Amino acid sequence: MQSSEIRRKFLEFYQSRGHAVIPSAPIVPENDPTTLFNSSGMQPLVPYLLGQTHPAGKRLVNSQKSFRAPDIEEVGDNRHTTFFEMLGNWSLGDYFKKEQLPWIFEFLTKELGLDPQRLCVSVFEGTKDVPRDEESVEIWKSLGFSDDRIFFYGAKKNWWSRSGEPEKMPPGEPGGPDSEMFFDFGPERKIHESSQCKDQPCHPNCDCGRYLEIANSVFMQYVKKDDGTLAELPNKNVDFGGGLERLTAATIDNPDIFQTDMFTSLYRYIEALTGKKYGAVAEETRAMRIICDHVKAAVMMSADGVIPSNKTQGYVLRRLIRRSLLYGRQLGLTHDFLYVGKLVAPVAEIYKEAYPEVLQQTDAIAVILQEEALRFGKSLERGLSEIEKVKTLDGKIAFYLYESYGFPWEMTEEIAREKGQQVARAQFEEEFKKHQELSRTAARGMFKGGLADHGEKTTQLHTATHLLHAALRKVLGEHVGQKGSNITAERLRFDFSHPGKLTNEELEGVEGLVNEKIKEDLAVTFVVMDKEEALNSGALAFFGERYGDKVKVYSIGSFSKEICGGPHVSFTGTLGHFTIVKGEALGAGVRRIYAMLQ
Ligand code: ALA
Repeated sequence: MQSSEIRRKFLEFYQSRGHAVIPSAPIVPENDPTTLFNSSGMQPLVPYLLGQTHPAGKRLVNSQKSFRAPDIEEVGDNRHTTFFEMLGNWSLGDYFKKEQLPWIFEFLTKELGLDPQRLCVSVFEGTKDVPRDEESVEIWKSLGFSDDRIFFYGAKKNWWSRSGEPEKMPPGEPGGPDSEMFFDFGPERKIHESSQCKDQPCHPNCDCGRYLEIANSVFMQYVKKDDGTLAELPNKNVDFGGGLERLTAATIDNPDIFQTDMFTSLYRYIEALTGKKYGAVAEETRAMRIICDHVKAAVMMSADGVIPSNKTQGYVLRRLIRRSLLYGRQLGLTHDFLYVGKLVAPVAEIYKEAYPEVLQQTDAIAVILQEEALRFGKSLERGLSEIEKVKTLDGKIAFYLYESYGFPWEMTEEIAREKGQQVARAQFEEEFKKHQELSRTAARGMFKGGLADHGEKTTQLHTATHLLHAALRKVLGEHVGQKGSNITAERLRFDFSHPGKLTNEELEGVEGLVNEKIKEDLAVTFVVMDKEEALNSGALAFFGERYGDKVKVYSIGSFSKEICGGPHVSFTGTLGHFTIVKGEALGAGVRRIYAMLQ
């Protein structure tokens, strides 16, 4: 089956069961400083899973563009990618297991025609705090699953939250046990040589490639509390996700997702360019897969406005392009880097129905990627000449090359081989681990600082941000518009358009007005409206978000009115005293303010 047919069928299936189709959010989350990328369909829905009301209702369905940076090193096998599309359906405190499991079973077997005998399922075996999921087991049995096709796993495999098992969840994070479905490609389809099942029986979570996880129903009913324990959420939610690439692979009974229509045109282009054949030589096939995945991800990111840089999303985009080029070298593409840009059009073609924004920007994206590729070409030469200078390529130098020039380990090893040297992989990995720990710490810092912790202080500062925005517009003028916002439990940071430095009188005026509105103890309320109606009513909307048809509009008395997902306090009187601690220029025509509540 073609991927576009599966996507359409999925949306229709859930639409006919009362679900509203919501648009895919961009890959880069809007108004959410806690993460660089949307890595699953639930990411933009976190406030609603935590209990906020979603404007489109309690049953939602969509197909979400997703990117998983931590998977970058795993790309190259039959089933891992960084960019993928996640089909998702959600119940926000509406239906639960009894509806979700039979529906997804019906979708896979009736709509997609998968043989029920080739499906198996996993369920949560329980911990001391959360019971074993007997209810799901009973449902699977009633759907015809015999005991030998139901597998129990612990929290490492059958618990889902954005941070993994319960112990790893930060306060405020939602999560819950899940039940996954796997497609069995058959015992003869072990496709990885070094598989876990050489000396023991194979099972769905084995890495041999016989089984492919195609569907995950998360029963999102818990939230991590500040004291480290789990509490029940106000609603029992369902968060379902199924990778479209993998579902397509199951329908064509081919465990290699790169042989679905979501990739074939890409590797064929590389075949034509290099004269090499996909599938003929393992290392070359791996290189082709990496190029297909990385260029596709780079195109999708660029289409959502990411530009190569040394920071955050831009750095990830840069790495994707660099890795594509390095693997291109393995295929003999040593000087002509322009193929990266030439692959943009085939990617746009794959997504022309679902994400027409890619097709609309084909030429511009190709220019951005090609420029970056040419720049790296030069850096690559510099890196190679540095290698020439060193006598012994130890693990530390290998890591330096990795960090500075984006040389993956395999590449350095191969260079070293040419020089008749061996590089200590253990030393490289040690350096790599240190680096990972540092970036994890940084990520934790970002998480703690973000609105997604939904703590009391963060929520208060979020409401104060709306007051500040309205006050700036009153004092400075209506040209003031939000350019960015970042809220930690300690302070708010607000970026806005304004040409000059704020005078002391202006700063005092803004501060005074916010404190006046706090004293007035105004009610903070929201209504759900059609997007057009909301914009016509004068509600501010500054994130350029691709809102769905229905939006939430938050009002603070008659002082402020903005399209926003929440959360907010109920009355401004609870905010305390508002103080602007710092103002600075951010760039041409953009100012930044830091403020606190005491
Ligand atoms: N959020 C779940 C996942 O990503 C469905 O697997």
